[in-house]
Amino acid sequence: MTTEVRVVTQTPPDPAAIDAAADLLRRGGLVAFPTETVYGLGANALSAEAVRGVFIAKGRPSTDPLIVHLAGVDDLSRVAASVPPAARTLAAAFWPGPLTVIVPRHPDVPGDVTAGLETVAVRVPAHPVARALLLAAGVPVAAPSANRFSRPSPTTAGHVCDELGGRIPLVLDGGATPVGVESTIVDCTVTPPVVRRAGGVTLEQLRVVVPDIVVREEHGDAAEAQVAPGQLLRHYAPSAPLTLYVGPVDAVCARLATDARRLAAQGRRVGLLVPAEDALALAPDVAALAAQGRVLVRACGSRTLPQTMATALFATLRHLDAEQPDVVLASDAGPAGLGAAIRDRLTRAAEGRVVRV
Ligand code: TXA
Ligand code: MG
Repeated sequence: MTTEVRVVTQTPPDPAAIDAAADLLRRGGLVAFPTETVYGLGANALSAEAVRGVFIAKGRPSTDPLIVHLAGVDDLSRVAASVPPAARTLAAAFWPGPLTVIVPRHPDVPGDVTAGLETVAVRVPAHPVARALLLAAGVPVAAPSANRFSRPSPTTAGHVCDELGGRIPLVLDGGATPVGVESTIVDCTVTPPVVRRAGGVTLEQLRVVVPDIVVREEHGDAAEAQVAPGQLLRHYAPSAPLTLYVGPVDAVCARLATDARRLAAQGRRVGLLVPAEDALALAPDVAALAAQGRVLVRACGSRTLPQTMATALFATLRHLDAEQPDVVLASDAGPAGLGAAIRDRLTRAAEGRVVRV
């Protein structure tokens, strides 16, 4: 299959491209499209056959449920059997935007979408291309991130082609996605509501509207994966083993430098994925190793503006992976705000190799 890539202007989204993509979705086809978080691989959520195509294209296990995307909050009753009050409150506050709520599943939504669960994850994305596509399609669209299973999520149409080129018919290219990490997932079928995945809406923002919301870390083993399907520990991992360093900034920088020196002395090519501030403040001998190409330093946004780090995160991981280091050492933007989502993704990329200094 050849994959067509159609560039879509955003203001307003090119009607010809949107109509062609909407038509394909209604006919049961797959379309990759930009959302404000990452690119999604969409299929008609009311068609079990179309949805099965998503799992095949991604190589995703059928036990990992999909998020259903809607044009607006009014469509919620098409996919939800009921809407818990917390879901209403969160939707009113954060839709359209990078928030997913888990609600009871409407019988019209095939079990293929939800991995057989009686709940369904739903969101209304904010990206103009996603909104135009959902409006034109007129059907709810099930869409996981448009990557092969367990790979970093795509934040450009080029990443989608690297992942799924030849496996899907159409990619709408709306440029790089602004948020850069996936939506925050909140389970609203339990009281109090539980954050199942940190993402583009921060815990601090959620607490303003749902003060009793709780966080459940799902960096789990197989048993936990049953509780929160799809939240597997190994995810986003580059080919080279990645280690995440967390703690006070100065201590992390010193420890990163020590370990980079030691590994380079062993002849290993070391990738450093760090905020720009740390890349600029490298110890002189580590900077010298970088100049020799023995340490590959890749700055990923700014520690003081976690949003810039989130936006750059997956692209930087891919970039570094392509340079084939032997090991990757990473530091992050701390646990607050969007930093929580960045830490979650890097912890999964590290498959649990987290050094607390
Ligand atoms: O930002 C996003 O959420 C992106 C864009 C494309 O919208 N989508 C995305 O989808 O990240 P995906 O498939 O990569 O991650 C969805 C995750 C699943 O892995 C699963 O953990 C969780 O959502 N999920 C979906 N339905 C669920 C349910 N009924 N109960 C619990 N978790 C669910
Ligand atoms: Mg994903």
